[in-house]
Amino acid sequence: MPATVIVGAQWGDEGKGKIVDLLAQESDLVCRYQGGPNAGHTVIAHGETFKFRHLPSGILSGKTSVLGAGCVVDPEVLLEEIDGLEQRGISAEPLRISGNAHLIMPWHIAIDGASEKRLGKLQIGTTRRGIGPAYADKAARIGIRVQDLLDPKILRQKIETALAEKNVWLERVYELEPFELDEVAAREEAFARRLRPFVADTSLLVDEALRAGKRVLLEGAQGTLLDLDHGTYPFVTSSNPTAGAATTGIGIGPTRIDEVIGVSKAYVTRVGAGPFPSEMEPMLAGQLRELGQEYGTVTGRNRRPGWLDLVALRYAVRLNGITSLALTKLDVLSSFDELEVCVRYRLPDGSESENFPAHQSDFHHAAPVFETVPGWSQPLDDCATLADLPDAARGYVDLIEQALGVPVELVGTGAAREQVLAR
Ligand code: IMP
Repeated sequence: MPATVIVGAQWGDEGKGKIVDLLAQESDLVCRYQGGPNAGHTVIAHGETFKFRHLPSGILSGKTSVLGAGCVVDPEVLLEEIDGLEQRGISAEPLRISGNAHLIMPWHIAIDGASEKRLGKLQIGTTRRGIGPAYADKAARIGIRVQDLLDPKILRQKIETALAEKNVWLERVYELEPFELDEVAAREEAFARRLRPFVADTSLLVDEALRAGKRVLLEGAQGTLLDLDHGTYPFVTSSNPTAGAATTGIGIGPTRIDEVIGVSKAYVTRVGAGPFPSEMEPMLAGQLRELGQEYGTVTGRNRRPGWLDLVALRYAVRLNGITSLALTKLDVLSSFDELEVCVRYRLPDGSESENFPAHQSDFHHAAPVFETVPGWSQPLDDCATLADLPDAARGYVDLIEQALGVPVELVGTGAAREQVLAR
């Protein structure tokens, strides 16, 4: 398995951190290819809980951990995370950051919050970490990159150029206070001094590792339906979580990828605004939120729970070329007598389809067609392999495999690292 992509198959929060942590034990490098501190990966290892926003989860296993060119980096958040880890006796020394990754600057965060406020009822519900504005500057070719941290003079110049424009926007459009050049430059230079040792040619690093036959894990953040091009636009993030972006986000060719593992919860959750066909009614949603502890890692917001949506998962299999699935949190469904599974959407013209609608107006008005399947009403704690699952739980997994034509290789039955059943 030289290069394996791990991708969220839903709207993020699928439990990728746990699966990456598990597979990282057998990998040599763990790399993130997109996103920034909008991500929140929770890993429970050695009885301790770790929450990562920036760092690839592989850092826990002491593996070389890469933030690729496709990422956006908030130096303050990253340094806080590095400090937090080191206080717990875990070294961040194996971290390598691409010089081509873009920096999230203080004005990106200010603009993210201000533009959400302006949108009012139409707001996207972003994490307000400056993600969209940072990627927008990248596309407009006015971003500041990690490599700009290497030279204090260049860094100051770039900040000065950016502020000349950003301060006008902040004051005139958003009615916010402008930023002071000296203050921002001093703050970023202090971060730069600490981050310089981590900056590396990560594309070369990964290429050399692959040539040497090493195992490389490419870890996506967020999820397929939050993809800027293929997700539920405009309720998406500003990068491409889908597997194809792993190659551009790291700087290797598409022929280097061998496997794509899609991570899906046994149900669905979504944070932030946007249509969600299989969303549960409020009482049931509250129950599931409690059972699954469905609260955002980054923002603490309530996640919106829904029944498993096979139409959306089929779309994820297509978009990512998923070769196997990891199904997480199956144990959370253990207290239901019956479960609903969304097998088709009913579209506004009355037709039904197993395929994800190509156009926003169809998706916004899609109604779920549910199939009711038996629950198992018993804990899964004593299962050691997939074969030990109660019949109804096994049936649930079979239904997914048959509908999607993809094997479910891993099943999560609890929060701890060891609570994953393999085929
Ligand atoms: P942004 O990425 O902060 O711009 O937010 C855009 C959308 O993506 C919002 O609906 C967020 O709630 C959602 N989002 C961003 N990161 C994550 C994540 O890690 N998990 C789940 N949703 C996310």
